[in-house]
Amino acid sequence: MSTRFTRAILRTPGESYAMGITSAGLGAPNLALARLQHAAYAEALIGCGLHITVLPPDEAHPDGCFVEDTAILNAKAAIVTRPGAVSRRDETHVLAPVLKGFFDELRTIAAPGTVDGGDICQCEEHFLIGISARTNPEGAEQLSQFLQDLGYTSSFIDIRACKTLLHLKTGISYLGKGRLVVSGDLPKGTDLGALIPVHVAPNDAYAANCVAINDRVLVAAGYPRFTAQLTSLGYDPLPLAMTEFQKMDGGLSCLSLRF
Ligand code: GLY
Repeated sequence: MSTRFTRAILRTPGESYAMGITSAGLGAPNLALARLQHAAYAEALIGCGLHITVLPPDEAHPDGCFVEDTAILNAKAAIVTRPGAVSRRDETHVLAPVLKGFFDELRTIAAPGTVDGGDICQCEEHFLIGISARTNPEGAEQLSQFLQDLGYTSSFIDIRACKTLLHLKTGISYLGKGRLVVSGDLPKGTDLGALIPVHVAPNDAYAANCVAINDRVLVAAGYPRFTAQLTSLGYDPLPLAMTEFQKMDGGLSCLSLRF
């Protein structure tokens, strides 16, 4: 039984968006187009049955629209992260009060730990925790302990040697029904337990970051082979234009907190 989501939190890209962190080398983003793509994303979430909370731009934090990195949400609690990039660290100060409106229990990753939500992949009652340039071993241990307290299990995947993966979920996504999308950028021999891998062709690696929400799977537009793969497995993909977020190292999952 896969998680049913009812809500999502998003943040509109601000005027400072192009000042965010990027290694993509795809050029500067077009803010007007990014906002259009963001609005289409928000509409897609509504179409998936979610009530959405859209926060105003946070001009002090150019990467603020990538809200996923600021919290780990599950049915039992919200865990506020401590983002690994110094320029993003205070994004949580704005988000925590919003989360208090939805969750009775809030926990917080503390220094010297760092965790980015993009490194955390929930697969039913088990969490895969990526150790990356953003999520350090101390943060991963703190999170693992919080999850254990809440009755979940977790395991670590060290992606620090994978230079093409910013976050763990740059290269994997949980689809539900025990299936995990996996790009070839993941470390060879990664233990996925009982999860069934759905491999993404090397040229479609960006599409590995997709988002299963209730009866749909949000996928980046422009990857018809991967979209057809999902359809053949019985999923209902919903392609969304992501060009202006890809330019800033962002993917579909980064743009919302779903719960
Ligand atoms: N630009 C998104 C990030 O680096 O976190």
